[in-house]
Amino acid sequence: MNAWPDEFDLRETPDIGEKIHAFITDEMAKLKTYGEQRPSDSKYIFHEHADRVAQNIKKTCLHIGLGDLVAENMYWATLPHDIGKRKLPATIWDRVEQPTDELKQRRRSHTDLGAEIVKEKLNDLAHPFIDLMTDIMLNHHEQMDGGGYQGLSGAQLSKPVRLVAIVEAYDGWRIWRPHYGDRDISIPGVLTRMREEKGPDIFDMELFESFAEMKMNAYNSGLKE
Ligand SMILES: [Fe+2]
Ligand SMILES: [Fe+2]
Repeated sequence: MNAWPDEFDLRETPDIGEKIHAFITDEMAKLKTYGEQRPSDSKYIFHEHADRVAQNIKKTCLHIGLGDLVAENMYWATLPHDIGKRKLPATIWDRVEQPTDELKQRRRSHTDLGAEIVKEKLNDLAHPFIDLMTDIMLNHHEQMDGGGYQGLSGAQLSKPVRLVAIVEAYDGWRIWRPHYGDRDISIPGVLTRMREEKGPDIFDMELFESFAEMKMNAYNSGLKE
């Protein structure tokens, strides 16, 4: 699966579409409740991150000219990308000390855990949307050079996955955390860092430049968040 999702419209098959939308809405509510167990000063709030990423995905799809249907399908398929986090103890995310390799592995398992939730809850359904959502859930931390969570490389990553990997990383770097020090986390600052310090080893740069152009257009017209 590599193409942009333009061959199905969940609104045209409401029996399946409603089940899928209800599943995602319910999981997002669960992610929110889960997040409430974390310290109140946590800056990286999982469900808020997911909302912003899904919105940015939708805007990028429209900016590239992929059309409303792709933008809508990508929005919904991206929203639940981190739901697997709720299967892990809430205490593992906000440690001040450097995470051990074991802790990193545990955090990373949220991709597989998310896919397990999908299987468990929607296993009676077969639909290309579910394949898309699962692809994004499993692979959104992969990198073009194979240095991501599971070591898949560029050719094995679908376009939807490549785009979510970009927008998801951008959102993480926009939220200040202690180890960032005085790093520039403004919109242009993060985009420059992604282009110059990360680049094609990590991201699909053609998609990155489309995303960056969408963000900078909004920034230059006054949207600073
Ligand atoms: Fe993630
Ligand atoms: Fe994420």
